[in-house]
This record gives sequence, structure tokens and C-alpha cells, in this order.
Amino acid sequence: MDRIRITGGVPLEGSIPISGAKNAALPLMIASLLTDETLTLDNVPRLADVQQLFHILANHGVDTSFQGKRTGQDQLAGQTVDLLARAIVDTTAPYDLVSKMRASFWVIGPLLARMGEARVSLPGGCAIGTRPVDFFIEGLRALGANIEIEAGYVVAQARAGLIGNRIRLPKASVGATHTLMMAATLARGETVLENAACEPEIADLGECLIAMGAKIEGHGTSTIFIEGVPRLRGARHAVMPDRIETGTYALAVAMAGGDVTLEGASADHLEKPIELMRQAGADITVTNRGMRVRRNGHGIYAVDAETAPYPGFPTDLQAQFMALMTAGKGTSHVTETIFENRFMHVQELARLGAKISLNGQTATIEGVKTLKGAPVMATDLRASVSLVIAGLAAEGETEVSRIYHLDRGFERLEQKLSRCGAQIERVSA
Ligand code: UD1
Repeated sequence: MDRIRITGGVPLEGSIPISGAKNAALPLMIASLLTDETLTLDNVPRLADVQQLFHILANHGVDTSFQGKRTGQDQLAGQTVDLLARAIVDTTAPYDLVSKMRASFWVIGPLLARMGEARVSLPGGCAIGTRPVDFFIEGLRALGANIEIEAGYVVAQARAGLIGNRIRLPKASVGATHTLMMAATLARGETVLENAACEPEIADLGECLIAMGAKIEGHGTSTIFIEGVPRLRGARHAVMPDRIETGTYALAVAMAGGDVTLEGASADHLEKPIELMRQAGADITVTNRGMRVRRNGHGIYAVDAETAPYPGFPTDLQAQFMALMTAGKGTSHVTETIFENRFMHVQELARLGAKISLNGQTATIEGVKTLKGAPVMATDLRASVSLVIAGLAAEGETEVSRIYHLDRGFERLEQKLSRCGAQIERVSA
């Protein structure tokens, strides 16, 4: 199995192109199930999760073709993909495909809306909490679907089509918002989705659905109005830049020091993380190329962070922020409020010499002067990149194993970091 080997202590200098957002690309690809015309997506990142979703969509009958690169285009530029679901050939999403990635469960919305039936395995994904699907089930029932759980599958039927309704999510779930918004586009009448998640990826999906002919207002806010239409058409849409990748590399620079421009990054979606990184001592400016991050000379200050739904501090940056705080001057607290089991990185960071104690959902971090390289193990997608960040700043060699977690969500991580001078390489066992 591949590992990533890092020799730490080198400041990062240069530029990193920011990829299309994984968490936007996945629902956008799933939206192709809603129409029998071609959906063209630009800026799709090359990631294991994206590949996995291509397999899942192919199983339902989606033809995928990749448009070639234009001459002179950066080798790290995103790809353009045509997705065509002329006919849905299978409304079952089987366990062996869905168990690898939670977001694949979201196909239930478009399949049910277009075909009047769907049979989707209960999902898998990162082991960061129980992550149930009760909001999806209750929401789809409110749209008129009949739903049973049979042998690990959610079996949904709405033979006469879905019917718009008022739905209030018990908690602002990103996945339930994507799924119910997609389902409601083809329902009869109006759906009002209250307490919807406000993440920018939901606004991005909403824009694409509108380009496909959907009638949606309020996407990106906590109340979304969807007026159902009989059919959707093809469209072209560019996947938004990845705010989590952006925040991750910004935190890497804050930790290792240096001066890096994150090309194509959008600072608009990172208000809270930028505020906290500035408090921690990073110098962040918005330029016409993206976002410039610097930390020269002075140390890292201890800052508290608490995760919250957007626009709060994202849970997907919690592990990376904690890595930064392990080298802070003084004591900081990091509180996780979204997932109940998202501290698996704590014991791995401790192997590098970090001093962290856990009390319920809050980690108390006592900054240390230097971290020391060590072998560590990736445990989930975002946790694994926190170990890379810590390794970049640690003295000596850090080897991160089980990096298939990283490949799920970070495109060409070693290339992007090594072009900024980082001593980082992938080694095959
Ligand atoms: C998405 C993101 C993930 C991010 C998370 C929170 C994608 C592909 N994944 O995951 O990277 O960490 O948002 O920002 O976009 N919940 C229920 N019942 C449900 C659904 C959710 O109780 O039916 C709970 C979850 O357990 C969790 C909370 O709601 O505590 C939020 O989860 P949710 O927003 O649904 O996360 P995902 O969509 O899975």
C-alpha cells in the first residue's frame, strides 16, 4: 500500500492551483440522473471519490465521456466531463458500490423523482460518526414516497410521481438538502425546504439545476423554494473551487511558514477560517489570482475554534486546524459539534509529539515548540491531511500510511506541495 513520506521543516514558497470542489462535484454528477440530455461539467477534480461515483452512475445507465485537454493547459487543471443518462437502466444502487462512499446514497432523490422508484443500499463513507439517513427518509416520505427498509436497502416508491410539500429538516444536513432539492425539482407543485443547509456547494448545485430548467429560489439560504417542472434538460456548469482544499493548504502554509498563492481560490466561502487563521498569525490577502497566504518570522498563536454549519467553521477543516494549534504558543480548544467521533487524528498527532487531551467534544491542545517526525496512520479523509500538515512542520521524517483516504479527496497532493518546495513523495510498499 502506498505511503507518503515527508521531510519536514521547509517553508512553502510558490503557488498551488485549487481544484474543483469534491463536495460540489459529487451532487452535480448525481444531478445528471434527472435528465435524458447531456450535463457537461467543467473543473471536475481527479479524485478516487469522483471515480467511484462514475462507476455508480454507470450502473444506473449514465454514459460518461471526458473531453480532452487543450494545448497549454496546466496538467493540474480540472477535467471536463459529459454525463448522459438517456435511459435509466437500473434503479438499484448496490451495497458494494454505495458502501464505499456516503454521498452515493444521494442518488435516491433523482432516481425516485425521475423513475418513481429507487432501491439504494444504506451508505458507508468516513467512520466519523453514526451518520444516519432518517432526514432523507422522512423528507422523501413528505414528498409522497412510500419507503421501507429491507435487508440493508432503502426501498422507495412513488409510482404516480412525487408531490411538493413543506419539509423542515430537524438539523441542517448537507446531504439531505442536496437530495431533497434534487427530488423536488421534478415533483408536482411547490416544495419549501426549511432549516436547509446553507453550504456554498448547495448554492452551486442549485445554480446548475436552474441551468437545467429547474425553478429554485433561496438555495444557499436556510429556506429553499422549489417549484416542480415536468422535465429537466441538459446544461453546462463549472464546479466551484474547493474551499476545504483551499483552507487546508492555507493552514499548511500557516504551519510550515512561507508564502504561497492559492490560485483560483475563493476567499468568500472561507470567512470564518480566514478570521481564525489571521488570529493565529497568518497573513492572508485576496489577490486577482486567488488567495495569498504568508507566515514569516513570528510564531503561531493559540486560538480556539468550534465547528458549526456554514457559515461557521467547517468540520472538514477541524483536524487541519488542530494540527496548526499543536505548534501554537499556549493552550487552545477545538470543539466539534457536527460529528460525534471526529477526533481520530488526536492519537496520531500525539505520535508526532503533540500534547492534546480530549474531554467529550472538546480537545485541549497545549502547543509544543517542535513536533518530531514519526510513522503515522491516516484514519479518514480530512484527518489524514492534518497529519501531512503536521509532518510538513515536524523535524525529520514523517511517513503517513493508508493514504487511500487522502486520494479520496485531495487531487495530486504531493505534486501540489512539492512544487512549493515541500520535501514530500509517494512511496509504494
Ligand atoms: C457533508 C459533506 C462532509 C461534511 C458534512 C458536514 C459531502 C460529500 N460531504 O456530509 O464533507 O463533513 O457535510 O459539513 O458534501 N444527520 C442525521 N440524519 C440524517 C442526515 C444527517 O442525523 O439523515 C446528521 C449527521 O449525523 C451529522 C449532521 O446531521 O451529525 C450533519 O451531517 P450532514 O450535513 O448530512 O453531512 P453529510 O451530508 O454526510
